Amino acid sequence: MDAPGREWWREAVCYQIYPRSFQDSNGDGIGDLEGIIRRLDYLNDGTPHSLGIDAVWLSPTYPSPMADFGYDVADYCDVHPDFGTLATMDRLIAECHRRGIRVLLDWVPNHTSDQHPWFIESRSSRESPKRDWYIWRDPRPDGSPPNNWRSVFGGPAWTFDERTGQYYLHSFLKEQPDLNWRNPEVEAAMLQTLRFWFERGVDGFRIDVIGRILKHPDLPDNPPNPEWRPGDRERFSQLWLYNHNYPDVFNAVKRIRKVFDEYPGRVAVGEVFGTPEEIARFYGDADSPGLHLAFNFHFIHERGHAITPWEAPVLRRIIANAEATVPPFSQPCFALNNHDRSRFVTRQNHDGRGLERARAAPLLLLGLRNTPFLYYGEEIGMADVDIPPERQQDPARFRSVGRDPERTPMQWDASPGRGFTTGEPWLPFGPPSPNVAEQDGDPDSLLSLYRRAIWLRKELPALRAGSVANLGGDEAVVSWRRQTPGAPGVAVAVNTATVPARAQLPFPRGRIVLCTVRAREGERTGGEVELPPLGAAWIAEEA
Ligand code: NOJ
Repeated sequence: MDAPGREWWREAVCYQIYPRSFQDSNGDGIGDLEGIIRRLDYLNDGTPHSLGIDAVWLSPTYPSPMADFGYDVADYCDVHPDFGTLATMDRLIAECHRRGIRVLLDWVPNHTSDQHPWFIESRSSRESPKRDWYIWRDPRPDGSPPNNWRSVFGGPAWTFDERTGQYYLHSFLKEQPDLNWRNPEVEAAMLQTLRFWFERGVDGFRIDVIGRILKHPDLPDNPPNPEWRPGDRERFSQLWLYNHNYPDVFNAVKRIRKVFDEYPGRVAVGEVFGTPEEIARFYGDADSPGLHLAFNFHFIHERGHAITPWEAPVLRRIIANAEATVPPFSQPCFALNNHDRSRFVTRQNHDGRGLERARAAPLLLLGLRNTPFLYYGEEIGMADVDIPPERQQDPARFRSVGRDPERTPMQWDASPGRGFTTGEPWLPFGPPSPNVAEQDGDPDSLLSLYRRAIWLRKELPALRAGSVANLGGDEAVVSWRRQTPGAPGVAVAVNTATVPARAQLPFPRGRIVLCTVRAREGERTGGEVELPPLGAAWIAEEA
């Protein structure tokens, strides 16, 4: 077991796999566990020719009717046949561990599928012993839902069940009824599902929408959001006062953490939303810890910004806020991409220069004091793919923004099946480029840049574990110093302007060890460095 403060996840680079889209092994057009096993050497074969990933997080692989592509779980302790079997999962865990890759699964505690046996039982009658496992309420006198809460995907958060004459609560789709975490039996049953996987060797979980598991016990109406304007996303029309990050959640998180602590070396990474202070609260306190890590998505979106602009003052503020709030016994956890949001290249492409920004992105993400999460395809610069209406899959599209464009299959090569499948892919491919094969041997490719960044991070203690201090420089530059005792300092500098800019360095002599323009690598510097337009560099202190 790692000593406190030296746990593996502190220095790990993690990689999110959306299993449907990573690698198909049986020609059904849907990615599967066997496919992931075949691609593990790409993630880490122990040499800098591979990405050097330390942990993978698999989006849900459980049996599910796939109303929300696995985030509607029908059995927490098995594998969906589209993905394989429990035996394949055991093999995947073993094959990952053989390569030093940890495995995180996705735990969905807020809701089950409406096809989960618990819900089928619960909805069968008002007297069902599992009735109280979900949140059932009578209609208001006029027949309308018990309160005004809206589903995250739009529409009311309540669905009326004719048979028993009550509404049930669903924070997401009506096929995803919310569990009642105020019932201790529910909590105990859900915690057992964690143990099931820990016993099989799983190293941790990404926890889905953990901030929603407990609501105000009286389920009062949420107040309207005074800043909401027609045309904004419906879910923001209310302030989520009573059904999101409700104070009781933070105590439940501490009880969940205790189960992780029963098994040495396991990690809980929460999908959380909120202000920097709210995110920090999920970590708990030193003597009663909560999550090991809580995602900070502010580089992707922030309240007030549907898309966080790639602008130095904004990035600086996000970094400073995270540094100021995350408790000292842990560290931030950033991501630039995931399966719910438009991909970085597309998001930051308002002027057609998204790909250039995507080269600076890994220097920012991997240069910060944090446990970074990459999203499959980010390392080759995959962009959103336009999906024709007849091929769209994500049910969220009916009332919110569809997420298919960022979930298209991994592009392994330029062949008709992109190296992903021999069949018809479940979502259409993007154009043949970018793909792994074309970037693999090209030292100037984005993939090569990601590989160098990840392996350098392993080599440089300041980058893995050093403190962070802001540096001066041009207004358009975000830069900071990483420092750890007994090792050379490293400066990270990111130029967000489309013209060159200067960054001051915290040491009189340095060497560029990584740069978005590869020709600059190896260059010696004095006390400052000029950065290319939209470029970034890591500069190591020289004796
Ligand atoms: C967050 C997940 O990331 C998203 O994909 C899912 O639809 C919702 N939670 C509901 O589980």
